[in-house]
Amino acid sequence: RAGSPLDYPEGVVRFNKQQKAYVIGAPGGVYALSAVCTHLGCITRFLSDEKCIACPCHGSRFDLEGNVIHGPAPRPLQWLEMQVDATGTLLVDTSVTIPHGRIFKA
Ligand code: FES
Repeated sequence: RAGSPLDYPEGVVRFNKQQKAYVIGAPGGVYALSAVCTHLGCITRFLSDEKCIACPCHGSRFDLEGNVIHGPAPRPLQWLEMQVDATGTLLVDTSVTIPHGRIFKA
């Protein structure tokens, strides 16, 4: 559960520790990004000053769409399935990955 879509104006990045995922506001919608580094699985961190995602283990960096800025991470962070329930609450399904760049429009 990640709150209301209205909680995510463009540029807002929230980390959900339990789901190990970021929920990020984008133009016209929202998307969820796995926080699990694609190198060896450490949990990344959002650096608000630099507006990027960094891995503390071996220094990989990702942009806010999960693209690798520099390695050793071999692949982008995974985009995750989102839905809204009957109450309008956003749900992130960390077990389902979706194509990179598919913005969820609630
Ligand atoms: Fe993230 Fe190695 S696990 S850079």
